[in-house]
Order: sequence, then C-alpha cells, then structure tokens
Amino acid sequence: MKVVIYPGSFDPITNGHLDIIKRVSKMCEHLIVSIIYNPNKSPLFTLEERARQVKGAVEDYPNVTVETFTGLLAEYAKQKHAVSIVKGLRAISDFEYEFQMALMNRKLCPDIETIFLMTSNEYSYLSSSIVKEVARFGGCIKGLVPENVRKEVINKFSN
Ligand code: COA
Repeated sequence: MKVVIYPGSFDPITNGHLDIIKRVSKMCEHLIVSIIYNPNKSPLFTLEERARQVKGAVEDYPNVTVETFTGLLAEYAKQKHAVSIVKGLRAISDFEYEFQMALMNRKLCPDIETIFLMTSNEYSYLSSSIVKEVARFGGCIKGLVPENVRKEVINKFSN
C-alpha cells in the first residue's frame, strides 16, 4: 500500500486544503492527512478539534485517513512507511520556505520524496489565517472552508 502524507496545521482546514486532498487521493492508495503541531504558531483549535473537523471534511474519500502528530515530520513519515510528503504551492512566495523544508526533510529521511501540487486558481489567495481574520471581524467565510468547519470557526469567535 503506497502511503502519502499531507501534513499541515489545518487551523482550520480550508477548501484549498480540501482541493489538494481530493486531487492527491486519486493518485495514491492511502493518503494520511496529518495534523502536525507547528511550534511557530498559536492555534485557534486544539489538535483534537482540528482532527474532528478534518475527519468530517474528508468522509467522502475512502482512502483518506486523519491523524495528529507532534514531532519531526520526517520521523513521522518514516514511521508510517510513507513514499512521499505532499505540499500545496499557492504562489512563488511559498516556494522558498517549502524548498528549504523539503531539502531538510530529504536530509533527515532521504527515501521520502516531497511532491508539490499547484493549488487551484480559485484558492490561491486562501490561508487558514486569512479565514480566521475575516471570521473574527464578522465577515462571510462561506465557500472558503468546509461547511462543518465554518460553523465551528464562527462559534469560536462569538464566544
Ligand atoms: N490552500 C489554502 N491554504 C493553504 C494551502 C492550500 N492549498 N496550502 C497551504 N496553505 C496555507 C496554510 O493554511 C497555512 O496558513 P496559515 O499560515 O495561515 O496557518 C500556510 O499556507 C502555510 O502552510 P504550511 O507551510 O503547510 O504550514 P503549516 O503550519 O500548515 O504546516 C508543518 C507546517 C506542520 C507541516 C511543518 O511546520 C512541520 O513539518 N512541522 C513539524 C516539525 C518539523 O518537522 N519541522 C520541519 C523540519 S524541516
């Protein structure tokens, strides 16, 4: 079984992430969406909340599972016997950072390839932070995140 990992903070998952999941799930046998603790960010949702949200969003994809992890991505990918790590590229500005991460992950685990997918045009401006910022000030986030997630984001800011 060829396992591919799609890692990220997913705080929260957006329709841009979902677009990548949908496309990659057609290219591999088993896709693990891995919600990974990023020490550089202060998340709005706990890892458990994010896992629940992502599970709800991917329930139509039978070969996609969802996990959480804290630690080094390369180690995790090795544990899972993954053949590759997939990342979405939205713009040239993503490239430098992603390139650095991919090379470091290759140094840590030479057998695992990082694959980049171009984000679909309609989501190229999206990020989890921009969704949270719009929701925080009462803006409409319909169509930007899966419906099960939209309600949770709105609730978080109305509390
Ligand atoms: N559609 C919409 N948004 C997208 C997207 C897409 N296709 N692809 C990326 N984004 C957004 C994300 O939502 C995120 O938004 P945010 O910054 O507002 O939260 C932003 O682009 C950056 O995404 P990404 O670079 O994937 O960061 P991340 O925080 O989601 O994930 C980890 C980074 C967790 C994968 C990374 O930090 C990691 O591997 N950590 C583990 C420790 C480790 O191994 N470190 C690396 C050593 S080389």
